Amino acid sequence: MDNVTLFEMAPRDGLQNEDRIVATADKIRLVDLLSACGFRKIEVASFVSPKRVPQMADSADVLAGITRRAGTSYTALTPNMRGLEAALAAEADEVAIFASASEGFSQHNINCSIAESLERFAPMLPVIREKAIPVRGYVSCVTDCPYDGPTGPGDVARVARALRDMGCYEISLGDTIGTGTPETISAMLKGVLGEVPAIHLAGHYHNTHNRALANIDASLEAGVRTFDAAIGGLGGCPFAPGSKGNVATEAVVDLMATRGFETGIDKGALGIAANFAKSLRT
Ligand code: HMG
Ligand code: MG
Repeated sequence: MDNVTLFEMAPRDGLQNEDRIVATADKIRLVDLLSACGFRKIEVASFVSPKRVPQMADSADVLAGITRRAGTSYTALTPNMRGLEAALAAEADEVAIFASASEGFSQHNINCSIAESLERFAPMLPVIREKAIPVRGYVSCVTDCPYDGPTGPGDVARVARALRDMGCYEISLGDTIGTGTPETISAMLKGVLGEVPAIHLAGHYHNTHNRALANIDASLEAGVRTFDAAIGGLGGCPFAPGSKGNVATEAVVDLMATRGFETGIDKGALGIAANFAKSLRT
């Protein structure tokens, strides 16, 4: 049986978009329940401006409070050097830099152009290398942007290649507002695969229009074997109007079983974590 890796997103992509602030103790409980499911990667923190995303302001406390399971990496979003330093101080096992394939979302999300964002990330890479921790890269708005409309596959490929060249071991391709279709996702992947091999790609599909599973199928077809998902379908981006939750991890685990892929996730533990995650929804 072929393996697929699921990267659990709920503690970060999920909780960053909840209107209410979830108590730190509840976030820690969620992460601990997710650790029991057997995920190899859980994104638990985001060291961004607390004025812009107050939901993530306690990221260091979350990393300090969780019980770390051997074999699981606890990862953090880091938008700049300051965020990287905070993530390293909190002992994140892996960090992620995040860019956009569209200028409109880049400006709204991180307040700079795509080129400026890549310049901002560049000095972070030697520091990350010195610490010998992995760095992942995100590209947002891979098929559509809430500000600029459709995104060209070439624009996604260019940013994905730039992040890969900087040293990202994997590029996660974000359908940030969930408007992608199997056709537009396939066209996007065809463009990106010209620059970055499938082994270094992940799909990060929001499920606004219930097409994320079909988009995952299209990505499996293209050779992608890592997918981001959020337990209970939690998530969204505060700076992408219309963005809904990530595809639910439970649904992806079931899809993979149907398609003959092994995920290594304990379904009993997943059910318990899903119930708790849903109880945190606004
Ligand atoms: P900036 O707006 O360019 O301005 O920040 P700045 O660098 O001058 O900083 C502004 C303020 O933030 C200052 O505070 C800084 O000190 C502070 P003030 O002087 O006003 O009191 N600051 C920080 N504080 C804590 N930690 C930091 C930090 N950096 C600056 N690291 C920045 C740029 C990117 C930081 C800002 O625009 C920001 O935080 N944006 C939020 C971005 C975000 O979190 N978006 C959601 C996550 S991305 C996502 O969801 C997409 C994804 O899921 C994939 C997909 O679905 O497509 C990954
Ligand atoms: Mg997202």
